[in-house]
Amino acid sequence: MKRNQISLLALTALLAAPACADDAALREQAKGLFEVIPMQAPQLADNNAVTRDKIDLGAKLFFDPRMSKSGVFSCQSCHNVGMGGVDGLETSIGHGWQKGPRNAPTALNAVFNIAQFWDGRAPDLAAQAKGPVQAGVEMNNTADNLVATVKSMPGYVEAFAKAFPGQSDPVSFDNFALAVEAFEATLITPNSKFDQWLTGSDSAMSEDEKAGLKLFIDTGCASCHNGINIGGNGYYPFGVVEAPGAEILPAGDTGRFKVTKTASDEYVFRAGPLRNIALTAPYFHSGKVWDLKEAVSVMANSQLGAKLEDKQLDQIVAFLGTLTGEQPEVMHPILPARTTETPKPVQ
Ligand code: HEM
Ligand code: HEM
Repeated sequence: MKRNQISLLALTALLAAPACADDAALREQAKGLFEVIPMQAPQLADNNAVTRDKIDLGAKLFFDPRMSKSGVFSCQSCHNVGMGGVDGLETSIGHGWQKGPRNAPTALNAVFNIAQFWDGRAPDLAAQAKGPVQAGVEMNNTADNLVATVKSMPGYVEAFAKAFPGQSDPVSFDNFALAVEAFEATLITPNSKFDQWLTGSDSAMSEDEKAGLKLFIDTGCASCHNGINIGGNGYYPFGVVEAPGAEILPAGDTGRFKVTKTASDEYVFRAGPLRNIALTAPYFHSGKVWDLKEAVSVMANSQLGAKLEDKQLDQIVAFLGTLTGEQPEVMHPILPARTTETPKPVQ
C-alpha cells in the first residue's frame, strides 16, 4: 500500500513536471507578445487627467439619451456596459431607426487601442466621442444643441464646473468629449483567466485553453492580434490570403482606404481587439458572423490560409474565452432634471 502510494506520488510528480516546464516556456513566449490589463484606469495619452469628478460627469453623459437629437440614443444604447460594451446587433440601429453600416465594437478596454473605429480614423477616445453625437445614423445631434442641452440643466453646469475647475466656460463640446473619455478609461476588464495565467497561475487556464493559446501563437494569429488588447493596434487587409465572400466582407466598405485614400489600404481594417470577444457577437465589421468558432475559421482561412481541424478551432475558441475579464460594475447614474430651457427632443 505504502509502495503504491509512493509510486503514485512519483507518477504525479512526473506528469506535473513537464506540464510546468511547458507552462513556463509558453508563458515566456506569451509575455513577449501580450500584456496584462492593469487593475486601475490608465493615464490618458492626451494628458486628460482621469479625476473622480470627470469620471462621474462622463458616466452621466454616457448614459444620457438627451445627448442625442431624438432623446432616444445614448452611448449606452450601442455600447451596453452590462453586455460586453456592445449592442449585440449585426450593425447598429440609430436615429430614426436607421441601420448603420458597421457593427459596434466594444467600448470596454477601448482606451488601450492605438486608434478608434474599425478603420482607426479617430486618434483617441476624446476625438472619437464627438463622432457618434453628430453622426446622422447614430445620435444626429449638433455640438451647439448638445451644449445648449447641457447648459439648460443646473445639475450639469455644476458637474462641468467641478470636473473642469478654474475654467471660465467649462460647459463645452470639447469638455463633453474629455469627460466621456475619462469615464471610458474606467471601462477596463482586468483579471481574466488569461491574465492570471500570464502573471504566474498555471491552474488559471485548462489544458485545452493553453493548447488554444499555443495554436493562436503558432498558427500566426498573434502576429496581428497581440499587445494588451490582443489586437486593436495594427492595420491589415481583411483577406490577406483569400478574401472572404461579399456576405462577410461587403464590397461597399473599403475600410482604411476611405481614411488614407491610398490604394494599398483598400479593405484594410484594424485587427479586432479580442479581449471579451466571447461576449461581443456578432463578429467582424459587417457583423455577419454570429458564431465565434466560425469567426476563427474565417480568420484562419482568409488571413493565414490555414485549414484548422475541428478540435483545433475548439481549442482556439476555448483560449479566446479566457480573455473575458472582470466586467466593470457601473451603477446607472442619476441624471440632472430637464428644465423649460432644455431643447425638446426632435424625432
Ligand atoms: C465605435 C464610443 C455612441 C455605434 C465606437 C468606439 C467607441 C465608441 C470608443 C470605437 C471602439 C473601437 O474602435 O474599438 C461611443 C460613445 C458614444 C457612442 C462614447 C456616445 C457619445 C454610439 C451610438 C451608436 C454607436 C449611439 C449606435 C447608434 C458605434 C459603431 C461604431 C462605434 C457602429 C463603429 C463605427 C466605425 O468603425 O466606423 N463607439 N459610441 N456608438 N460606435 Fe459608438
Ligand atoms: C478580426 C480572430 C488571425 C487581422 C478578428 C476577429 C476574430 C479574430 C475573432 C473578429 C473581431 C470582432 O469582430 O470583434 C483571429 C484568429 C486568428 C486571426 C483566431 C488566427 C487563426 C489574424 C491575422 C490577421 C488578422 C493573421 C492579420 C493578417 C484581423 C483583422 C480583423 C480581425 C484586420 C478585423 C476584420 C474586420 O474588418 O471585420 N480576428 N484572427 N487576424 N482580424 Fe483576426
